[in-house]
Amino acid sequence: MPSVIDSLTLIRPDDWHLHLRDGAVLQAVVGDTARQFGRAIIMPNLKPPVVNAELAGAYRGRIMAALAVAGVEPGAFTPLMTLYLTDNTSAAEITRAVESGFVHGVKLYPAGATTNSDAGVTDLFGRCGPALEAMQKHGLPLLVHGEVTDPAIDLFDREAVFIDKVMIPLRRAFPALKVVFEHLTTKNGVDYVTDAEGPVGATITAHHLLYNRNAIFQGGIRPHWYCLPVLKRETHRLALVEAATSGNTRFFLGTDSAPHPRGLKEQACGCAGCYTALHAMELYATAFDSVGRLDALEGFASRHGPAFYGLPLNQGTITLERSAYDIPQELPLGDSTVVPLAAGESLPWRLKA
Ligand code: NCD
Ligand code: ZN
Repeated sequence: MPSVIDSLTLIRPDDWHLHLRDGAVLQAVVGDTARQFGRAIIMPNLKPPVVNAELAGAYRGRIMAALAVAGVEPGAFTPLMTLYLTDNTSAAEITRAVESGFVHGVKLYPAGATTNSDAGVTDLFGRCGPALEAMQKHGLPLLVHGEVTDPAIDLFDREAVFIDKVMIPLRRAFPALKVVFEHLTTKNGVDYVTDAEGPVGATITAHHLLYNRNAIFQGGIRPHWYCLPVLKRETHRLALVEAATSGNTRFFLGTDSAPHPRGLKEQACGCAGCYTALHAMELYATAFDSVGRLDALEGFASRHGPAFYGLPLNQGTITLERSAYDIPQELPLGDSTVVPLAAGESLPWRLKA
């Protein structure tokens, strides 16, 4: 009979896709991530977006200040900054970003894809060509929000269409470019990443591992389960779980934790984004445990990401224990509150302090 694991110690994990926001919201959320992770790739979709190394450096400074105010020990958490790719990003700007030492990726948001993406790219193969060329040369990864924005394409098909319309031509044009397919949500995406030639990786969120699209509509419309890319049907969730627990080094952890004030989610046109930074490892452990693959969690959470980004493993460890964790109903967020994913529910795993 297989023995039940009650405690799990891992190399300190990283979050390879995180929204920290700015100002009072940044201050409210940064401690949650620092408690769980050693590093995180910080998304650049502020208003205005983080489009160059100078802005990234200033944002990094605000994050470091917020960490200090939150009482995080110096060096305990490192933000890995990113730039927001636009039609105007130059090759020289990429060189400056690489030379900064703190920029670790460039994010591609197709224009209009999601929250604050109106500055996104409209002409990837034309105007962004020199920047992509420079990234390929320097080994700076392109982090891709993999959805087409054409309103004629069904919302649930936008990732699959993106593969054909953008990913395949992109890899053909820049075969040595490191590309991370962010927040993968479909079997089509899993198959693509598994088989693609060249340096391709993918992040997978905890919510896409744990829930399918029924969660958005269970007993009524539930805005706190609404994110982009939207949750998909069960067959896709199963493919994501299979990929995340497979040991394949192309798949790694990225929460896409995206805090919004409660009122902006609970309104006629609610914002996309799930807040999972609070209980990220509890959620991932629950997902891996559900298929009896806790043994694969350390690779996914702590090893595959650093290998892809060319960074060392974190020092130190975290320990998860099998013990009920009650998710709070809401948390302070500046002058509002944020509702964490699955608020009020209980998870079977808890991060040891
Ligand atoms: C993100 C946000 O709120 O910034 N929302 C989300 O649903 N994931 C944007 C994004 O990464 O798509
Ligand atoms: Zn995101």
